[in-house]
Amino acid sequence: MGNFTNKTLRGRTALITGAGGLLGPHHGIGLTSAGAKVVLADIDSKGLEISKNKILKFNNKAEIETIILDITDLNAVREFQKTYTSNNKYIDILVNNAALNPTMKEVGSKVVGKIEDYDMDQWNKEIDVGITGAFICSRVFGTRMAAEGYGVIINISSDLAIRAPDQRVYSPTMSFDDIQSYKPLGYSIVKTSLIGMTRYLAEYWGHKNVRVNALLPGGVYNNQPQQLVENVKKRTLLGRWANVDEYEDVIVFLASDSSAYMTGQSIVMDGGRSV
Ligand SMILES: NC(=O)c1ccc[n+]([C@@H]2O[C@H](COP(=O)([O-])OP(=O)(O)OC[C@H]3O[C@@H](n4cnc5c(N)ncnc54)[C@H](O)[C@@H]3O)[C@@H](O)[C@H]2O)c1
Repeated sequence: MGNFTNKTLRGRTALITGAGGLLGPHHGIGLTSAGAKVVLADIDSKGLEISKNKILKFNNKAEIETIILDITDLNAVREFQKTYTSNNKYIDILVNNAALNPTMKEVGSKVVGKIEDYDMDQWNKEIDVGITGAFICSRVFGTRMAAEGYGVIINISSDLAIRAPDQRVYSPTMSFDDIQSYKPLGYSIVKTSLIGMTRYLAEYWGHKNVRVNALLPGGVYNNQPQQLVENVKKRTLLGRWANVDEYEDVIVFLASDSSAYMTGQSIVMDGGRSV
């Protein structure tokens, strides 16, 4: 007989980092629809407000808190966790979602993201938010989860963790000769690292009943330049980009006891692009 009793998220609280961006509110819609409270964290206060309203529009009973939090600042993250806990509140689910996603330029603008003239400040920022920030949040909230004997960490990686970015999609002729911008190396490094972090922390805290898994989404349609849209479609088995709400259910699956016997793993959901 199956055990269908613990598959909602009622009584759980999820912290979503980088929640003021494109996917953050959709993680929030999924998690609150399944009964969780959510804490939306970001450095962008306007983004947080928009995100909160998007979730409320979908579910006007959703319990939502927002917090301006720079995840690269260990002391700030510790301070938030301390204050939160002293109010008898507890983060059971952490979604490491924040990352820098350098926007690929419109075809015809200055070529950016090349290896030869990669901006080192940009490199450091990408690593800082994507890797260090995810580590800091995992360390602070995961330690508490381990002490409580229950917790879930979900690392939002990318299909670019398991395949090279085909830079030809940024060319008007789909060739190597006139690539207009490059998906930067930092992104591949950050997303690949999250798979390593997922495995390491899954081993480290597995015996404390803290599960750590990664989601590898494919490209989400967000009014990208037409040329890019068409090029990516041709390279994706399902022939389209992801819709912005298509990861909501998998986040609930990973956060809930539906995935209770799963840790250290990655779910690839990329329309078949990496195949
Ligand atoms: N959108 C896609 O097509 C796609 C595809 C695959 C993977 N992903 C991954 O999904 C996640 C969410 O993507 P998105 O499209 O919503 O990105 P986004 O750029 O829209 O949002 C990222 C958010 O992170 C925040 N942020 C940046 N630095 C921060 C810091 N120091 N502390 C706290 N917050 C910070 C930003 O303010 C922003 O609101 C990212 O990890 C991304 O790499 C996205």
